[in-house]
Amino acid sequence: MLLSRTARHLTRRARTLSAWAGVPAAPADPIVGLNQTFADDPSTTKVLLGVGAYRDDAGKPYVLPSIREAESRVVNGNPNHEYAAITGDAEFVKLSLEFAYGPDSAPLQEGRVAAAQVLSGTGGLRVCAQLIERLPRLTGSSQKPVCYMPEPTWGNHAKVFQDAGVEVRRYRYLDSNTKTTLDYEGMKEDLLGAEAGSTILLHACAHNPTGVDPSPDQWRDLSAALKKTDLQLFFDCAYQGFASGDAEADAVALRSFVEDGHQILLCQSYAKNFGLYGERVGALSAVCSSTEEKAALESQLKAIIRPMYSSPPIHGARIVKEVLGDATLRAQWTGECKEMANRIQEMRSLLREGLAEAGSTKDWSHITDQIGMFAYTGLSKEQVQKMRDESAVYCTLDGRISVAGLNRDNVAYVAAAIHAVSK
Ligand SMILES: Cc1ncc(COP(=O)(O)O)c(C=O)c1O
Repeated sequence: MLLSRTARHLTRRARTLSAWAGVPAAPADPIVGLNQTFADDPSTTKVLLGVGAYRDDAGKPYVLPSIREAESRVVNGNPNHEYAAITGDAEFVKLSLEFAYGPDSAPLQEGRVAAAQVLSGTGGLRVCAQLIERLPRLTGSSQKPVCYMPEPTWGNHAKVFQDAGVEVRRYRYLDSNTKTTLDYEGMKEDLLGAEAGSTILLHACAHNPTGVDPSPDQWRDLSAALKKTDLQLFFDCAYQGFASGDAEADAVALRSFVEDGHQILLCQSYAKNFGLYGERVGALSAVCSSTEEKAALESQLKAIIRPMYSSPPIHGARIVKEVLGDATLRAQWTGECKEMANRIQEMRSLLREGLAEAGSTKDWSHITDQIGMFAYTGLSKEQVQKMRDESAVYCTLDGRISVAGLNRDNVAYVAAAIHAVSK
């Protein structure tokens, strides 16, 4: 097509402007952004207790020996690099479901669990959130897609659901007086009052950021109470094995809901328990009422995944499959997972002792009562900022510390820093 002189001139002029001119910078993720602020801090005694990644007693990233062994078996097997199916590696998915639900679980035995391999916990949450968003259209209902999540919850939860077009609402979780214990009655009241047909997000174990879980009795009571509603329960299981050191024990809550007949949604992540953070290995599943329903739901999951990222990565799933599918390696992993959980527990005790030694007379029992990777200290935003400025100890502004970032060399220093801002 021939352009006039004026049109050619205008096109040249327009090209001198950037296509992205006028795009404002988005706010940094509060947890990931903390890493950069920490890296820029010149202090020689600085401590990072932000990101939830396990560190060994020397403060270094840790690759579990069982995972190293599994990986070398995978690599030595000279596997090809073909695409995985849209729903991933079928054997990996099968082993993952048995890992979470238990091999004897009735819905598994009856072949009525729809599932897919996904991109770790976050990827699974995103796909499930999209399913929740589509469900009213798929079923011809006028229901608005709504998900209730605990207050507080993992910082990314609300964003994942909102990006998928799901309205996010909150239910009470942490006691607003103690700020370190569960407000069980408030939680139950809010859940029973939730809008019919909504989804309820529950942390399967080791609640992030608080480290506070319902007791086994409270879980049982909640399951019975929620059975009388038509709410869709959605378990986010990012720490199986990390809470108690025993993956079976950590699955008890979600298994009891399934035994009670709840048709749960579940997301599993292998980031923390297998130390496969960057490999993005996870699974999602939905308990269905029949094999026909399972087939239909799986086809809808494929319809969501295919245009989103087509199929999941294969390397990490092969490693997990190697561990879960080999009794010896699995036993080794179980021991190593327990060691990680034990080290975190020991750091909780040392931190509490350190606070007493530093002269604190406050009650810090919540530090040893809470479980999992994080402790919710109860420090205010101002105290967190002061601790950062005065001692270069970095944690998130809600007062959450990653206990996995503590070690024998820094725990007394951190205790003194916490005491200095909280006395
Ligand atoms: C509760 C919870 N869910 C999901 C995730 C997602 O983890 P990933 O996407 O790394 O598996 C995390 C990570 O911190 C988490 O704490």
